[in-house]
Amino acid sequence: MIDKAKGEWDGEERSLFLAPMSGVSELPYRLLARECGADVTITEFTSSSALSREVANSWARLESHVDERPFIPQIFGGNPDEMVIAAKMLDETADIIDLNFGCPAPKVTKICAGAALMGTADDLVAMTESIISEVNSPVSAKMRLGTGAGPDTVLDISTRLEGIGVQRLCVHGRTLKQRYSGIADWDSIANVVSSVEVPVIANGDVFDTKSARDCLEATHASGLMIGRGAIGRPSVFAEIKVGLGWMQQEELPWADDNWFASDETTRIFQTRKWCWNRYIEIANSTTGLRPKWMMRHAVAFTKGLPGAKKVRMMMHTHTEPEDFAASVTNYLEQGCSES
Ligand SMILES: Cc1cc2nc3c(=O)[nH]c(=O)nc-3n(C[C@H](O)[C@H](O)[C@H](O)COP(=O)(O)O)c2cc1C
Repeated sequence: MIDKAKGEWDGEERSLFLAPMSGVSELPYRLLARECGADVTITEFTSSSALSREVANSWARLESHVDERPFIPQIFGGNPDEMVIAAKMLDETADIIDLNFGCPAPKVTKICAGAALMGTADDLVAMTESIISEVNSPVSAKMRLGTGAGPDTVLDISTRLEGIGVQRLCVHGRTLKQRYSGIADWDSIANVVSSVEVPVIANGDVFDTKSARDCLEATHASGLMIGRGAIGRPSVFAEIKVGLGWMQQEELPWADDNWFASDETTRIFQTRKWCWNRYIEIANSTTGLRPKWMMRHAVAFTKGLPGAKKVRMMMHTHTEPEDFAASVTNYLEQGCSES
């Protein structure tokens, strides 16, 4: 595993992860995030029940590419047999299999899957143990602090998961009950980091260099996972690396002479344009352009920029994906010259 870094964080480089995000982190976006500085990417969570029944749409969510190494599919489920079957089906192609114990969505928790399992530690550990005993791939787990219905369970579960051979843990510093409200509790993540030997990735409320530094100082985690901060802003990874001195500004893939000569607003447009164009190129060469994905990313990429409302209208006027892609590029291009 690449994130072996452990112990006090004294400024040295630690891995940056693109968070698994359903409806966001499909293959072209994961590949783009890597070009933008993410060290590790994980697929959207996928139902073990559907995978074990060979549902084609679910298998499509776990599509990967030779450029995506390590390939880490994430699965969820409440039925241990289906989780084992899905994990075995993935064993050949996966570099690591990630288990979702963090999803707060009612459709997941009502089948006793995702974050609901944080409330039934014995079931969670037994399910994980069965999977580990049946696959060769390393297994990692992504958790929340607990369900929020009683005391947090993450510390107990983390030490037990380490004991049965889980090789990496990721902790989102919120409970199931909190969903996305409140502030991520980095101190609780720090407790996990200091209680286990395996690498622990800190997750929750990292959006920029300052929050990345603060989170590493608070947790000493082996790496950081970024979710919402990377929606529409895949550049956040390289920006953090530059901000923390892990990368030179000259190495930013979008930083040409023009970019260096520009003011802050123009740089934002130029960076987003580079990312958008690369997204389209990557999608064209892998999955093909998928209108649903493109529209979602186009809205996210242009959010907060002057005149961004135009982008929503473009979706209706340009029905061909290529035309829509070009119109978004054009909007960003105009922003580069007008701002
Ligand atoms: C749109 C969206 C989809 C998500 N889908 C998943 C998922 O498929 N698997 C998962 O483990 N977490 C999922 N999450 C949770 C994130 O991985 C992450 O834990 C959470 O957003 C907190 O990190 P952040 O503060 O950096 O956003 C999702 C979050 C968002 C916003």
